[in-house]
Amino acid sequence: MSRSFNTLLVTGGCGFIGVNFIRYVLKQSGYTGRIVNLDSLTYAGYPGSLDDVATEMGDRYVFERADIREPIQIAEVLDRHGVDAICHFAAESHVDRSIVAPDDFVQTNIVGTYNLLQAARDRRERIQILHHVSTDEVFGSLGETGYFTEDTPYSPRSPYSASKAASDHLVRAFHETYGFPVTISNCSNNYGPYQFPEKLVPLMILNALEGKPLPVYGDGRNVRDWLHVRDHATAVWTIMTRAETGATYCVGGRSELRNLDVVKRICRLVDEQAPALPSGQPRESLITFVKDRPGHDHRYAIDCSRLEAELGWHPEESADTGFGKTVAWYLSNFEWVEAVRTGAYRTWIERNYAARG
Ligand code: NAD
Ligand code: DAU
Repeated sequence: MSRSFNTLLVTGGCGFIGVNFIRYVLKQSGYTGRIVNLDSLTYAGYPGSLDDVATEMGDRYVFERADIREPIQIAEVLDRHGVDAICHFAAESHVDRSIVAPDDFVQTNIVGTYNLLQAARDRRERIQILHHVSTDEVFGSLGETGYFTEDTPYSPRSPYSASKAASDHLVRAFHETYGFPVTISNCSNNYGPYQFPEKLVPLMILNALEGKPLPVYGDGRNVRDWLHVRDHATAVWTIMTRAETGATYCVGGRSELRNLDVVKRICRLVDEQAPALPSGQPRESLITFVKDRPGHDHRYAIDCSRLEAELGWHPEESADTGFGKTVAWYLSNFEWVEAVRTGAYRTWIERNYAARG
């Protein structure tokens, strides 16, 4: 199986993974077509992350500020650009926010995905594939042993994971009921460049740099399986261009770490790469145990052997190589970090990109 397209719609392309995916596809995958990036620019979307791509790629890259909660906006973008494939990243992605305010998660992740599926199905003669990007959190929480696979039953436990589970079910239902061509991936925790500092890794890097407390939830023994975002991008591209229609793949880095060990590792890397704190204390001294996240899933771990065996994908980075490169990226991309850390990127967005009426 091999698919090629001319105009790929990426939803949520101004967020962390979308930005890295667009960079990979346009610059390194060999793809010669265009990308249309549809993003509503919530707090998590920053089109400035792709400024250099927009300049280099000319009309091979187009940005459209639009909202998947609005079916008319989706239809306009699909038709204006003659979209023939879709990669769907747009979502509310942060578990802590879903606990405080689940409404946007239901509207964007469930209703928004439904709107996109309907609009795509209405253009079935043109659209070859819709790839849905999902999470390992739909499978629930593991004990000390075992792995999630493509056959693990769904058991979501947070409003975020429940909304992603619902969207996965809708995507599969459109395939089973209408024969609409889809693929799905369920991936573990990503880290790397352009991630907003609400998530564990960039939050710890930036707080460690500034000598601020490093808040570790509970006892820090929760385990996540870490994957460098570029490896997620190559997995998604491999699946959407080569997998059988209707297929699902689990994507992970085979890099299980306890949160406390992730934070300690980041402290050591920041100590090595940045000037020492004025107090002379090692950054580990900033670690502060705080109240646990409600319903905090204990452990996630992915068995990605199906993707490796069937499509030949392998992660290139390990935790030993990837975390060091990520710390180095945050230290050397001062302008991006400052725009995001201070919130200046919002003023820039409102000046440059009017929302659709
Ligand atoms: P993110 O929060 O960094 O980015 C989400 C993007 O979607 C933002 O640019 C935002 O503006 C856009 N968006 C939100 N609501 C929208 C709407 N209604 N219409 C149009 N655009 C909208 O998220 P991320 O970490 O890049 O995650 C991308 C996808 O990957 C999500 O579907 C997430 O569930 C999934 N995922 C993430 C991880 C991870 O570790 N970050 C792991 C597995 C799967
Ligand atoms: O597993 C994939 C999921 O990974 C994605 O689907 C989500 O979109 C993505 O946000 C991520 O979810 P997590 O909840 O695992 O990521 P987060 O960075 O918020 O937290 C990672 C772990 O670190 C988690 O066990 C909670 C803990 N944590 C997090 C923060 C922000 C802390 O201990 N302190 C913190 O300040």
